[in-house]
Amino acid sequence: MSDRPAVLLEAKKISKRFGGVHALEDVDFRLHAGEVVALAGDNGAGKSTLIKIISGVFPPDSGEIAFQGGRVTLANPQDARTRGIETIYQDLALADNLDVGANVFLGREPMTRWMGLKVIDRRRMREEAARTLDTLDIGLDRLDRPVRALSGGQRQCVAIGRALHWQAKIMIMDEPTAALGVPEQRKVLALIQSLKARGVGIIFISHNLQDIFAASDRIVVLRRGVNAGERATAGANPDEIVRMMVG
Ligand SMILES: Nc1ncnc2c1ncn2[C@@H]1O[C@H](COP(=O)(O)OP(=O)(O)O)[C@@H](O)[C@H]1O
Ligand SMILES: [Mg+2]
Repeated sequence: MSDRPAVLLEAKKISKRFGGVHALEDVDFRLHAGEVVALAGDNGAGKSTLIKIISGVFPPDSGEIAFQGGRVTLANPQDARTRGIETIYQDLALADNLDVGANVFLGREPMTRWMGLKVIDRRRMREEAARTLDTLDIGLDRLDRPVRALSGGQRQCVAIGRALHWQAKIMIMDEPTAALGVPEQRKVLALIQSLKARGVGIIFISHNLQDIFAASDRIVVLRRGVNAGERATAGANPDEIVRMMVG
């Protein structure tokens, strides 16, 4: 019996330039099912650039991405999402003026017929969103308010709920806890564990070493656009990780 979880994503020799800046140079990256990888590195190290490439925001200049064993070209974020690669950014995740149910279904709304017209099935959206969010024990009292009325942590939870609802295989989170209060940070970290338990592979970027050590299985360090090394989190030394980050 194999005790190795499947490799979900394998990025090989990824390079990306912006004008004269080498944002990434020959970076290799691997993610397994049910694994939480923390992407660490100083400002400008290339973390966001790498996850933008993995989430289809822009293509690499060179290098290859294999997803679930097959080579892929991710044309745009929608393409990545359709394959099961979901990304949560600090602010970009939700549509403020729509309610929670509508956000869970954003761009994938169920339709029904009303007096012969095709319309969005709002009731079904709310019911299904409620069911998904219940399984995460997020405890939002009402789903019919615009998400702008929610706290930062609740918004993250809705975005995570959306990924779960659509059976994301990979969840990418860029600084998910950066703007949150402590109880909300805990909630998001707990949700990361529940996604992991469902076999989702998670990439999360954080500046917070405590979060990194609390939530990840493996730490990958980027420094000025190159792989600076990686460690299994269990047994890793925080001082050493910092040294890898700053060189
Ligand atoms: N869209 C862009 N245009 C020009 N330069 C960029 C762009 N995105 C990132 N960069 C540059 O690429 C490098 C890596 O940036 P980034 O991936 O955002 O780093 P990190 O997320 O680790 O802080 C930086 O030097 C940054 O200024
Ligand atoms: Mg960044």
